[in-house]
Amino acid sequence: MKSFFTVLSAIASLAVAAPHHGGHHNKCISQSEAETLVARYAAVIAGQPSDLGGPVKTARAIAAKGYSEQSDSANQLGGLPLGSLTVATKRDWIYESQNNPPFPTETQAVYVTDCNKVTWLWISPNFGSGAYPVQGIHLLTTNDDCKLTMVNFEFNSFAAALDTGYTIFYANGTQYGA
Ligand SMILES: *[C@@H]1O[C@H](CO)[C@@H](O)[C@H](O)[C@H]1NC(C)=O
Repeated sequence: MKSFFTVLSAIASLAVAAPHHGGHHNKCISQSEAETLVARYAAVIAGQPSDLGGPVKTARAIAAKGYSEQSDSANQLGGLPLGSLTVATKRDWIYESQNNPPFPTETQAVYVTDCNKVTWLWISPNFGSGAYPVQGIHLLTTNDDCKLTMVNFEFNSFAAALDTGYTIFYANGTQYGA
């Protein structure tokens, strides 16, 4: 009888342990959780408050400890080596996100894929001078607690550059858009 209970309790603890992978969330991100996360992330990069509070408080709440970001569009605008991480730590992201020009976006679509990945399509018609609408795509990777671990994004950095005071010349010396 004793061994029977031992086996039963071993099975019970296996059944409890199996679906867990570290966090208390234990499920794929839902469509509504993804939309809330995107709205909060968008508020942070726009320098606006979210339902969680100001942009710094929001950034602290939504980014996981090992947060990082990769974007060659942003690397090129910022003069960073192509292929390198754009932001390597959560702390740097909080700082950079509030020291870059505010980046207001309008969400065009949010798709959940592969359990913990969120694709966000957006347009920014009023970035900087607003002369050129900027479009882009983010891929947000989340952990079991729906916090951001890695963000990959690319956008029309040519448009963003023109909106923020870069002057671009053709090889023949004619100025783009003049
Ligand atoms: C310079 O090159 C651009 C791009 O090819 C072209 O649109 C423009 O007409 C050229 N300007 C002159 C003065 O040739």
